[in-house]
Amino acid sequence: MNDAATFKQQAGEAAAALVEPGMVVGLGTGTTAIFAIRRIAARWRGGELPGLVAVATSTKTAVAAQALGIPLLGDDMPRAIDLVIDGADEVDPALDLIKGAGGALVREKIVAQASDRVVIVVDASKVSDALGSKALLPIEVLAWGWEAQLRYLTGLGATVTAREADGRRYLTDGGNMILDCGFGTITDPAGLAATLETRAGIAGHGLFVEIADDVFVAGPAGVEHRRRSRTG
Ligand code: A5P
Repeated sequence: MNDAATFKQQAGEAAAALVEPGMVVGLGTGTTAIFAIRRIAARWRGGELPGLVAVATSTKTAVAAQALGIPLLGDDMPRAIDLVIDGADEVDPALDLIKGAGGALVREKIVAQASDRVVIVVDASKVSDALGSKALLPIEVLAWGWEAQLRYLTGLGATVTAREADGRRYLTDGGNMILDCGFGTITDPAGLAATLETRAGIAGHGLFVEIADDVFVAGPAGVEHRRRSRTG
C-alpha cells in the first residue's frame, strides 16, 4: 500500500474502535470509509459487537457491507443512528467539510443528520485552511432542467463541470446529476450552503457545515483525533 492508503486505513480503523455493541452505525462511502467498514465487520465476526446493525450511505457501500456480513437496516431507516463514520474531500479548521467526490453526498448527509455522532476519517492531504482551496464542491441536481442550474451556479461565480463517468453523464444513486463547482476559496460556507438550499432543482450539495463532531486525521505523525468545539 502507498502512504495515502496506509493513512486512510489508520484513520478508518481508529474510528471503527468507537463502535459499541448494540449500536446502529452509519457506513460511509469511499476509499477511507471502507477501511472502517472492514474493521467493523472484523469486530462483528469476532463477536465483539453483538446487536450491531448498520445503514449504508450508498449502493456501493451496501454491497460491500453485505459481502462482509454486516447486518443492514432497510433504506427507510427504521431506527435512529448512533454513529456514522464517513470520509471527506476537504476539512477546514472548524471541521466543516466538502464531501461528494464519490457521488453519495445526499444520502451521506441524510445519514449524518440522522446520527447522534458524525465521525469523519481522512488522510492528512484533505486538511486545508479554507474549503474550496483543494476540492471542487459537488452539487447534486435534478436532471430535468439541469442547464438552468448550470447557469445559476455560474452566476454565483462558479466554474461548473457536469460530471461524467465512462464517457456518459454520471448519475447518483438517486438518479440525479452532479455538477462539480469551483468557487475558489469559500469564505462563507454557511452562507453559500443557505443560498444553494433555496434553489429548486438542487437536490443537495457537498458542504457539510457544523455537522462533523469528530475528525480522525492520519498522516506521517500518526492519527490525530480532532473534536468540534461547541460554544454557547
Ligand atoms: C462520497 O460521496 C464522498 O463524500 C466520500 O466520502 C469522499 O469523497 C471521500 O472519499 P475518499 O475517502 O475515497 O477520498
